[in-house]
Amino acid sequence: MITAVYPGSFDPITLGHIDIIARAAKCFDRLYVCVMINADKRNPMFTPEERMEFVKKAVARYENVQAEAWSGLLTDYAQQKGATVLVKGARNVCDFDSEYQMSLINKGIKADLETVILPASAEYIHFSSSMAREMIRYRQPLHQYLPAEIVPEVDRIAEAKRIRR
Ligand code: PNS
Repeated sequence: MITAVYPGSFDPITLGHIDIIARAAKCFDRLYVCVMINADKRNPMFTPEERMEFVKKAVARYENVQAEAWSGLLTDYAQQKGATVLVKGARNVCDFDSEYQMSLINKGIKADLETVILPASAEYIHFSSSMAREMIRYRQPLHQYLPAEIVPEVDRIAEAKRIRR
């Protein structure tokens, strides 16, 4: 039984993340999608609770995938879950470079934790949470960027918070 963890800020979760989750769910017996609530990102658009709800809704259809939040060290979370693999996605060499560095940091903390980097599918190479946030700000139709399950709630929160320009 191989347990894997897919961590991220997910501000918000996009179809690019879902692509990685769907593919990783086929590779591993159990996959935890870990919403890092203290990720080093200033001014997130969505609160940890909102991001967590989005992720929960978006992964509900995958039987072996579970969403959780974590505010500490990623390696501690992996240890707590009995996970031996970290899953990351890479869209380009910049992503690969930073994920490679993070994999070395995580391996330095926990030597038996492997990082598996999945290349983004071609149709999602230009997807990112920051691009999704721009589309939300500028009232673009969101179905082509975000999982359908979360679009109404993202729209509702964006209106309520007056995020829109
Ligand atoms: O979606 P992101 O913001 O690119 O994800 C980055 C994240 C959250 C995976 C990374 O910052 C992280 O692992 N943070 C948890 C704190 C930690 O364990 N740091 C050491 C490994 S770099």
